Amino acid sequence: MTKKEEKNKEQRDLTFNGMTATEWAHHSRSVWKDLPSPKEYSKIPNMDVLPLELLDRLISMYSKEGDVVFDPFMGAGTTIISAIRNNRFCYGSEIHKKVFDIAKFNVENSINLLVNGDYELMNMDAFLATERIEDETIQLIITSPSKPSISKRKKKDENSLDFGDDKYEEYLKNIEDLMRRLYRITKKGGYAVFIVEDYRDIKNNKPYVEFHADIAKKGIKAGYLYQDVIIYDHNDQRGLLLQGYPKIFYANLNHKYIVVLRK
Ligand SMILES: C[S@@+](CC[C@H](N)C(=O)[O-])C[C@H]1O[C@@H](n2cnc3c(N)ncnc32)[C@H](O)[C@@H]1O
Repeated sequence: MTKKEEKNKEQRDLTFNGMTATEWAHHSRSVWKDLPSPKEYSKIPNMDVLPLELLDRLISMYSKEGDVVFDPFMGAGTTIISAIRNNRFCYGSEIHKKVFDIAKFNVENSINLLVNGDYELMNMDAFLATERIEDETIQLIITSPSKPSISKRKKKDENSLDFGDDKYEEYLKNIEDLMRRLYRITKKGGYAVFIVEDYRDIKNNKPYVEFHADIAKKGIKAGYLYQDVIIYDHNDQRGLLLQGYPKIFYANLNHKYIVVLRK
């Protein structure tokens, strides 16, 4: 081992996430502009799929190899794939059977001989999934819940809580309940990371809804510390639209917030 390798190993052994000081500093920017933007997935219309590079970065920052990760709203399974390829164990839950099957297919097809991570996928509501997980065992919850619906849609299945179909107040109440459960299964010192975007509800005269701040408040209420907010900026990857032209000037909301909570 060279002197440099020895020093790096010393540092990796010291840190909770196995990073060297240089890697730690490199990842600590508060605005991220260097990642691909989320993409609409052809098989799941209206759902943004996050780039694997984003999940890889967050997983390497807030957990170490062998840790347990959980994505309660797994969608196409990006978090699971990233966790496995970074040698973590990952739980994932997804309420819709069709989406669950797509995630399962994506995860199974991402596995190769180089990865050591393992996983358990649950085709169920996020609330129920937390009941299957032992208290204080999760190092990192990392998720992007469906956006609150701004129209009043009827729930398809009264027994399920589809976060995308609820009205905002009801939605936030559900988030509050879920946060308490997530807090319970998070290890002491572990993290809960929510990747969300603010939005506009023009029809109801709410030009700006601070969704990320409401998520953070619910996290604090459940007991988490509000540790950080990172801006995941994809302005450079997207074209600009004329918003409100020519009557009212609105900014293009081409970024997401990464809300970082810690137990
Ligand atoms: C925005 S998508 C997640 C996308 C994911 N991060 C990815 O990159 O593929 C949110 C997912 O949560 C699911 N969902 C909504 N309500 C749920 C609930 N109560 N329990 C579990 N999953 C739910 C939706 O079906 C949707 O697939």
